Amino acid sequence: MTEIRPGKLTDYPQLVAYDEFIGDRRQDFQAGGITVADQDGQIAVAYMHIESAAFLGWPLLARIRVHPEHRRCGLGLRLVEAAMHDARHPRLYATSEQSNIPMQTLLGRAGARP
Ligand SMILES: CC(C)(COP(=O)(O)OP(=O)(O)OC[C@H]1O[C@@H](n2cnc3c(N)ncnc32)[C@H](O)[C@@H]1OP(=O)(O)O)[C@@H](O)C(=O)NCCC(=O)NCCS
Repeated sequence: MTEIRPGKLTDYPQLVAYDEFIGDRRQDFQAGGITVADQDGQIAVAYMHIESAAFLGWPLLARIRVHPEHRRCGLGLRLVEAAMHDARHPRLYATSEQSNIPMQTLLGRAGARP
């Protein structure tokens, strides 16, 4: 079973365990910008960070990462769809390198427009 929920500061060590690039995101947790996915009792095996006004004043999906052992299970898509259907995001922007085929394909599946 998958649960999408707001991230809590206590999730932070779990994220650091599979995202060596995360840096110190504890302020983002406190600001409420992190959403996580729990799966089958395992907490925070995926997360996304949305900056509420980072793209010309609109929300930006700044970062998303799924634990390598939990990829291709639909978690990334679930997170992006949750963000797209969040009433706080009348528009949602995302950036991804053109070479990032997984993310480009996922965004296409979610109905994102280039
Ligand atoms: C990109 C990423 C978030 C995708 O997460 P995920 O949970 O594995 O993706 P999903 O299982 O929800 O995949 C949804 C769809 O996206 C596409 N997709 C996902 N991974 C793919 C891959 N490796 N190759 C091709 N298509 C892929 C597929 O269409 C997939 O649907 P399908 O499995 O039914 O074919 C994950 O690969 C990741 O964490 N990558 C490293 C971090 C990163 O690059 N983040 C994006 C920039 S911040």
